[in-house]
Amino acid sequence: MHQSIRLAALATLTATALLAACESSNKSRPDQPGASSTAPAASAASQPSSSSVSASGSSSGKGVTASATAQPALTPITVAPGKATAPAASAVSIPTMADTKPKDFQGIHNAVAYHDGYVSGSMPEGEAGFASLKAMGIKTIISVDGAIPEVDLAAKHGMTYIHLPIGYSGFDDTRKKELTRATRDAHAKGPVYIHCHHGKHRSAGAAAAAASSLGWITPDQGVARMKVSGTAAAYTGLYACARAATPLDRAVIDAVPASFPPISRPSGFVQGMVDADLALEHLVAIEKAGWKVPTNHPDLVPAAEAGKLANLLRFMAESDRSKKHPVDFAAFLMKNSDEATALEDALVAGKSNAADLSKLLNAINTSCKDCHTKWRNEAAY
Ligand code: HEC
Repeated sequence: MHQSIRLAALATLTATALLAACESSNKSRPDQPGASSTAPAASAASQPSSSSVSASGSSSGKGVTASATAQPALTPITVAPGKATAPAASAVSIPTMADTKPKDFQGIHNAVAYHDGYVSGSMPEGEAGFASLKAMGIKTIISVDGAIPEVDLAAKHGMTYIHLPIGYSGFDDTRKKELTRATRDAHAKGPVYIHCHHGKHRSAGAAAAAASSLGWITPDQGVARMKVSGTAAAYTGLYACARAATPLDRAVIDAVPASFPPISRPSGFVQGMVDADLALEHLVAIEKAGWKVPTNHPDLVPAAEAGKLANLLRFMAESDRSKKHPVDFAAFLMKNSDEATALEDALVAGKSNAADLSKLLNAINTSCKDCHTKWRNEAAY
């Protein structure tokens, strides 16, 4: 990474494009931490001991399993979704620190615990997703994603939202403290679920950093949990944030303003990316339907989705954010926009050769990924 790019880019940071402040402090550490089996030095009352919560309610179907006699700081984990008589099949057990693999539930994917009653995972999908969280006993949902949280669905299931978006390159000290206070205060009221989109990268990094900042786990344990979540090694900024997080003094956490928004409007650029992502998702669904209108999405007009994508990308290329980057950033977006236009033109012309259309879609997708590798995944902007 060129220093000059870095410096120029630092000036462009906005509230949602957060500085990967963590990166510098621990740069020289190897990416692979040791296993987390060494004794933790965490200071909090509650050790994330593996056996405090059993992995399931076993075959009894009564899923209540908390370490009743353990440290008082532990929030009891209730895992029975309904009456105690419910059959085992319907029980949803909250993931625990003992799990070595992510768990999937209806409408929830990649759920991994970072402390007892503190779980990272994917964005809840519709009613089913929120019902699964409710069944786990979740009381508060923290989103670090750019998309607007579904606060109404959460409320319907008795949960509240806190929205603290972060980027893929990590987050600054302010955001770390906010995540830490939000997590601590919410956890005092009951189990907390933290999510981004897929629940693999950003929410994992945020959960690891907050849990370490609270002294619930060590930084090494946080990094090990991120590997369970499947955080890609390319997200060096997120790993750096997890490694750099050490227990914060109570006074430091208390100094963070205690009220957090249920919805933070993303900047125009980030919202553009979220919308572009949706248009691309629609095009993939159209491709799967044989380049026809998908039966489960009769409202989609194939050429219009490609056109919308082209417009969004051009709009982002012309945004203030792009102007502050070296020129190849905007050029990347323009190229990507032209590729979307090529697909739009082919669809408007009624071209029906699926292989040709798929080739055009692949080119778009490849450009998204290439640019993210260069500009988003690392703290290079
Ligand atoms: C010019 C390079 C570039 C191109 C091309 C690009 N992106 Fe992005 N994208 C970024 C950057 C930089 C971010 C991080 C923005 C931030 O966090 O401030 C981002 C963020 C995102 C996000 C995350 C938004 C959030 O919730 O925080 C999604 C989703 C996304 N891009 C999808 C796409 C898709 C789909 C395409 C292709 C159609 C695409 N991007 C093309 C640079 C690019």
